[in-house]
Amino acid sequence: MTPTLNVYSLPRLVDPEKLSGGVAVVIDVLRASTTIVHALEAGAAEIVPCLKVDEARIVAEQFPEGTVVLGGERKGLPIEGFDLGNSPLDYLPHIVEGKAVVFTTTNGTRAMTQVRTADRVLIGAFVNASAIVKELVDQKHIHLVCSGTDGQISQDDVLLAGMLVERIMREGGLLYEQNAQAITAREAWLHSFALPRALGAEPLEPERLAAELQKSAGGRNLVNVGLEADILTASRIDQFQSVPELDPEKLRIRLV
Ligand code: MLT
Repeated sequence: MTPTLNVYSLPRLVDPEKLSGGVAVVIDVLRASTTIVHALEAGAAEIVPCLKVDEARIVAEQFPEGTVVLGGERKGLPIEGFDLGNSPLDYLPHIVEGKAVVFTTTNGTRAMTQVRTADRVLIGAFVNASAIVKELVDQKHIHLVCSGTDGQISQDDVLLAGMLVERIMREGGLLYEQNAQAITAREAWLHSFALPRALGAEPLEPERLAAELQKSAGGRNLVNVGLEADILTASRIDQFQSVPELDPEKLRIRLV
């Protein structure tokens, strides 16, 4: 069977039945994926993604006192009564170390629950891009699932998907059949960054990536609520070398 490398610009473009036998990566650069990497790197024991705010409250109540942190956002802002919002830098070791983070966001955690039919589900962001590439290289069937923003395609996710496609093709030994969105995402990435770099422009600094991400639907939402600093945090390519993985049955995310 020909190896396949697919990008889905929105979760609703995924056919869950086609994920079985492959590895899926859920991408929500701004900010759910980035925040999950930060939280686990800060020592959180696990992330428990929830679809709804009330569900998250109920799930959190089932943990013994002092062992759980409630985090997430609605309309980009912290949720009333929650411990933390969705800013990656809020997830500090003294707050989350050794604890479960029960987490609900508008698009990212929803996408995570939609791809559970894949053999493996990883969480990808720019902050762990190379670690994700390492896991994916030479995998036969790869599905990069962009979370989008409020049902719309968000360029922050598409650019990361494009970077991953470019690197998997360059660094792996397999010749993949790509879907149209994979080709488009790779072209978007090459057009925005890699080609100018090859022509001798400056290396990709976080500030330069952040300036691009800021134009995305997710980026504009963050600017509107005064959280643009999170865009720069999400632009630090390879800050971490870890890969969060979702256990599709228990719905828990832990480091591989
Ligand atoms: C999402 O899941 O849609 C994002 O986390 C939104 C945000 O960061 O505000």
